[in-house]
Amino acid sequence: MGRFLAVLAAGCAGGLIGEMGTGVGVGAAWMASVMPRDCRLVTVEMDADRVAAARRVFADEERVEVIHGDSYVELERRAPFDLLFVDGGAGDEGVGLLKIGGRVVFDDVTPVEALPADSPYREHDPKRELFFTDSRLVATEVVLPDLRNALLVGTRVR
Ligand SMILES: C[S@@+](CC[C@H](N)C(=O)[O-])C[C@H]1O[C@@H](n2cnc3c(N)ncnc32)[C@H](O)[C@@H]1O
Repeated sequence: MGRFLAVLAAGCAGGLIGEMGTGVGVGAAWMASVMPRDCRLVTVEMDADRVAAARRVFADEERVEVIHGDSYVELERRAPFDLLFVDGGAGDEGVGLLKIGGRVVFDDVTPVEALPADSPYREHDPKRELFFTDSRLVATEVVLPDLRNALLVGTRVR
């Protein structure tokens, strides 16, 4: 997952990256470590202890801002984004925070082939349905190399 985020972040020249749900900064570190010099990253976390931990990680990185608050509220004020990693807080509302041509990534998806045979998600997965019925997105699912995890990625086209 981190490497996938890094691939997208590396192309954000002059851009703005947002992250919903910082955790302690692992995903943000993947992106910040390769994003172009003129790119900035804003990440939002509601848990104060995690915010403090992530701020220590980025203490020497002025291009990264770790904000304590609600991810959608804080990122809406700073939109539009070239790349948005949705990993805590708002779901499909995040698409509206992208520039046209911007990309959104959702993780924590289980590939259908890795689901138990009787899982209801084989027939009906609200996350996938929201993502793939959003007419603003050209989207796909990417199964990660462990074959147990997947992500959804989309480009905003309208
Ligand atoms: C899976 S973790 C994030 C991991 C992180 N993105 C990474 O790649 O290392 C999800 C985080 O989202 C935070 N979170 C959940 N809802 C949120 C919200 N509405 N606003 C901000 N943070 C939120 C949780 O406190 C948690 O730390």
